[in-house]
Amino acid sequence: MKISPMAIRVFMAILLAGAVSVSTAQAADGDVFKGEALYAVCAGCHGADAMGSEATNAPRLQGQFDWYLIRQLKHYQSGARGVHKDDTYGATMRAMAGTLANEQAILDVVAYIGTLESK
Ligand code: HEC
Repeated sequence: MKISPMAIRVFMAILLAGAVSVSTAQAADGDVFKGEALYAVCAGCHGADAMGSEATNAPRLQGQFDWYLIRQLKHYQSGARGVHKDDTYGATMRAMAGTLANEQAILDVVAYIGTLESK
């Protein structure tokens, strides 16, 4: 049987669509509404729109990959980040990561950050 180039293209498109829906499903693991409440603490330094602020030394979070934010929050909690005696800013953020009670709270707050856009 000869497979037409068109059939291959249609098949590839279906595969790609599947891959995209898998990656967005991961981001949806968090509850945006619970995340919004958790983010109230974060907004004090990172800003309501998560654009960061040099005055508070808090970096921009908006637009960042969700997997990266999740990993960094876990690193602060585990002590892989923010424990060196000279790392004042890391220590500050490590204390803040401690306000997220469990992995679900991390997923929730990151899901909310993912909804933010600059005004
Ligand atoms: C008191 C100010 C303050 C608050 C409140 C705060 N942060 Fe931070 N955050 C910082 C600072 C300062 C850094 C940079 C730390 C460093 O250099 O390691 C940071 C870094 C981060 C990073 C790492 C970013 C990167 O690019 O590696 C993440 C993620 C983060 N904060 C998320 C949060 C979340 C989520 C909350 C709320 C639960 C929060 N922050 C609350 C000050 C704050």
